Amino acid sequence: MVIAFFILCAVVAVAVYLAATGGSRRETLPGESRLANRTVLLVVVITFAFGLVVPVLVLVKNGESQASTAVGVHLSSKEVKGRELFVAACAICHTLKATNSVGRVGPILDKIVPEVAGSSFKARKALVLSTILEGRALGLGNMPKRLYEGPQAEAVAEFVAAVAGHK
Ligand code: HEC
Repeated sequence: MVIAFFILCAVVAVAVYLAATGGSRRETLPGESRLANRTVLLVVVITFAFGLVVPVLVLVKNGESQASTAVGVHLSSKEVKGRELFVAACAICHTLKATNSVGRVGPILDKIVPEVAGSSFKARKALVLSTILEGRALGLGNMPKRLYEGPQAEAVAEFVAAVAGHK
């Protein structure tokens, strides 16, 4: 689809060029042909550029929208960052469908987050954030505290709050 658009633009550009240069064999007034040639060149360049820029924009946008969804949930850029951080430090111990992680040391987050904090984003975020900052030793094992702090802890908490329990 994107490539077809590029080819179409290239064909139009070549057609414009051929049509214009074909016509230039006729007698022209001095000065006229140079202006005409410049105009043709401009049209050809613009058409080519359009054929390149549009597909690149489409590809970039597709890439972005894929990066910003997980288990059908649209992620903010902060949550996308949180996903990276989660994969780096939490996935090894926790199962979470949104990252396809299967860690078994700690509880399954898709279950425990809704169980403990319900469906409110605020309550879920608060639970995950306090767990990260304080650690946990409630009887299911030990979770180390402060794997992340500050904005990084916030980003992970928002990501987990947004996706836990979604399929
Ligand atoms: C070394 C393994 C390990 C790592 C790494 C780890 N956790 Fe945990 N996590 C645990 C264990 C074990 C528990 C259960 C603790 C308990 O029963 O008190 C737990 C519990 C939790 C809970 C439930 C808390 C509650 O009150 O029920 C959440 C939420 C959580 N972890 C999120 C995270 C996040 C987010 C990260 C990454 C920053 C992370 N964990 C990293 C082992 C880990």
